[in-house]
Amino acid sequence: MQKIIVGNLKMNLLTLAERDRYLESFERELKNLPENKVEIVLCPPAVHLEKFGEKLKTQEVAVGAQNIFWEERGSFTGEISSLMIKNLGCKYVIIGHSERRKYFQETNEIVNAKLKAALQTKLMPIVCVGESQEERIAGDTAKVIISQVNQGLVDIPISKIAEVIFAYEPVWAIGSGVIPTEDDILEVKITIKKILVEKYGSSAAEKVRIIYGGSVNSKTVAQVCLAPQMDGVLVGRESLIPSEFLKIVEILNNHIA
Ligand code: 13P
Repeated sequence: MQKIIVGNLKMNLLTLAERDRYLESFERELKNLPENKVEIVLCPPAVHLEKFGEKLKTQEVAVGAQNIFWEERGSFTGEISSLMIKNLGCKYVIIGHSERRKYFQETNEIVNAKLKAALQTKLMPIVCVGESQEERIAGDTAKVIISQVNQGLVDIPISKIAEVIFAYEPVWAIGSGVIPTEDDILEVKITIKKILVEKYGSSAAEKVRIIYGGSVNSKTVAQVCLAPQMDGVLVGRESLIPSEFLKIVEILNNHIA
């Protein structure tokens, strides 16, 4: 399975000038990258999706949104639908990021509705799951992951499951510089795989990519992705610095070679 690296740019690149500088720098750095075997995805704020798509389509970099609404159209002031995102040329969408769960009260039911909307429009959803610090201390990591995955997947048919990517993002590892051990990550990966095997059988489950996110950089990528054999990474802060982001890509590439 091809490894994937997703850059979540979050609510950054505030001006058009800043956006353009970022894209120029990204393109420049990308040219220096030796042969690439990893799927690269950038998820900028919605206002920059069109420009990113335009600039990056010739570079074989896919573009994704950071969020969608679950309805397709209508009186939902301020929301952006899956179809709108798809029509801008996006291939992916992040769903249920812990920041959305925390600040916008996104429940597992909402995640499920958004997941259905994404699949309906043939966007590939990157569904984020992960325990908080308190849940980890209480020994509830597996319990949290099981309910997030199970409830997120309600009524998702086997025909669509290969389109879904799960990102294990422990909330306490995001933005903190602290990362889980290889064994911690492996355990969560196995927990997710087990649910998938039970629900869809082993050959369908094999096709679902499970990636890791939370303080990923060129120094941590070996421990959080290569050692536990994850299918890729979801990168926050480091994706804002193209040279650092592409350093991670290079490490993944070298490993594949
Ligand atoms: P950091 O890489 O900044 O820890 O953020 C991770 C994240 O939230 C990616 O979605």
